[in-house]
Amino acid sequence: MCGIVGYVGADQAAEFLVDGLRRLEYRGYDSAGVAIHGGGDIAITRSVGRIQALADRMGTPPEGTLGLGHTRWATHGPATEENAHPHIGGDGEVVLAHNGVIENFQVLKDELIAKGYQFKSATDSEVIAHLVAEGLKGTPADPTQPNMRYVTAVKWAIAQLRGTYGLAVAFREKPGLLIAARFGSPLVLGVGRGEYFVASDASPIAGRTDRIVYLADHQIAVLTADGFTVLHRDSGKVRVNIQPLAEDTGEVSMNGYDHYMLKEIHEQPDSLRNAMRGRLNDEDATAVFGGLNLTPQQLRGVERIILTGCGTSWHSALVGEYMIEEFARIPVCVEYASELRYRNPPIENNTLVFGITQSGETADTLAALNETKRKGHRTLAICNVVGSSIAQAADGGVYLHAGPEIGVASTKAYSSQCCVLAMLSLYFGRMRHMSFESGGRIIEELRRLPAAVEQALTCDSEIRRIASKYAEASNFLYLGRRYNFPTALEGALKLKEISYIHAEGYPAAEMKHGPIALVDKHTPSVFIMPRGTTYDKVMSNMEEVKARGGPVIAVASHEEAQIRRIADEVIMIPEVPEFLQPIVSAVPLQLLSYHIAVLRGCDVDKPRNLAKSVTVE
Ligand code: F6R
Repeated sequence: MCGIVGYVGADQAAEFLVDGLRRLEYRGYDSAGVAIHGGGDIAITRSVGRIQALADRMGTPPEGTLGLGHTRWATHGPATEENAHPHIGGDGEVVLAHNGVIENFQVLKDELIAKGYQFKSATDSEVIAHLVAEGLKGTPADPTQPNMRYVTAVKWAIAQLRGTYGLAVAFREKPGLLIAARFGSPLVLGVGRGEYFVASDASPIAGRTDRIVYLADHQIAVLTADGFTVLHRDSGKVRVNIQPLAEDTGEVSMNGYDHYMLKEIHEQPDSLRNAMRGRLNDEDATAVFGGLNLTPQQLRGVERIILTGCGTSWHSALVGEYMIEEFARIPVCVEYASELRYRNPPIENNTLVFGITQSGETADTLAALNETKRKGHRTLAICNVVGSSIAQAADGGVYLHAGPEIGVASTKAYSSQCCVLAMLSLYFGRMRHMSFESGGRIIEELRRLPAAVEQALTCDSEIRRIASKYAEASNFLYLGRRYNFPTALEGALKLKEISYIHAEGYPAAEMKHGPIALVDKHTPSVFIMPRGTTYDKVMSNMEEVKARGGPVIAVASHEEAQIRRIADEVIMIPEVPEFLQPIVSAVPLQLLSYHIAVLRGCDVDKPRNLAKSVTVE
């Protein structure tokens, strides 16, 4: 994962680098570093921990108008200062920051050691720094093209890499030259006036310039204060598309909330409105999507849908499966992207593959889409981050418009994904057998959804009370059926990732086939049971847990004496149709995990061992 930044221009580099790393901190936060070229030497500062620790370590930043920085999520080697980037190549002639994974690093490292290179870290990335230094040795200077020697050295180095990389490279002898290269890890260029920026995504650049270039795989950018050139790794100059970049909206502030996660939970009524804005068409009782890039004929001809993603996005895929099969009657198959990319299942013609992703950078989801695309299937992205790698790789797609999601635990992106999937079900349904009346009813129900989520949010203080009762538990069970089974999985994931409590989500009836053995007086079971088709069945499952002495928390949508009799705690949510229940019932589960994590003193927005986008497989 990791995030990288780079700057060359007339200003002091340090401010952009440190500020940019703060914005990329969500990509990894176990150590960080910056390198600033002062004209003669390159000053490197590295630190274990967050960007603030780096800023503290730097004190008064070194002077220099060119620099690069890195925030790390450890893959090879623990989070130590030695393993933090930037890494030095040769005897200090090269300084480099890398995002990605080099699979053949050990072979390359052995070769470099045999040539006399000394390694200071356990990382795969240091290999690239030394390779570039080795490349420089073998490349004579060309006085007519002074930067070409450095470009050739970078090309030579990356030609030997197997794996993924986003790179920023600086050179001791070239104080005004920054080289960036991309394969498999995202990289953008900010095009300013007399200054140029490199970053893993647009967030560090927004507000500094309004022009951006999304580098493609195999591209190398050569940047100086006078301009930039993009080359293809194996050929010459490439014409790139300079796109407008919206101003920094300030949406990344916490708006008075204690944590981004809490803010994002509370933003859901608005993020849902944004997901639906302009997409509900009353006249034809359907949904409208601008970017599917498929003809009505192709869409009508879809015979099967594959929904793929990871983690929370995989959970929303499960919700989508229920919705699409119910409303559009198209068979759906949900696949973990990490499995789909290697499993090679037979995929029939006329299958549409959706990659669901908040970040648009998840390596497995990207690879799964590319793999199915290679085999001739159409791929679409349901994605939050505009211009992200997956948004670019897919044939078309639907943006969530949820705004930046900074908390590592996904909340508003999940509800928006479910909402987009509901609209897609309506869209496909209306192309097939669904009546005008049914389409109209779904639209009405979707329009009422943000208000229902608003109402669900009012149980916040009640949930805080419940959280304080169970915050010391070591295990939780989350149980639900049909549409609420994915919600059970999602509730369990939210709890374990931010509070480090072990939790399992299960279909409520499956519990009898094993997990019921876990039930004891210390293990709370959360039953997600708003009124619906399986309500009575889930009530019986809840009795079974209660009979074995397990504490019970019920998430319900209507008052009933029986629930109050069985459950120790009841959280009331508004009643919505079953297909929208996953969105509304996720809200109290998000709040429950949030409050438990806070009570346990956990770092809610940046849980241990995690990062916001998982750009390694
Ligand atoms: C959990 C969470 C992760 C992500 C997963 C996929 O709260 O956020 O499980 O859902 O890493 O990420 P995206 O959606 O960015 O592809």
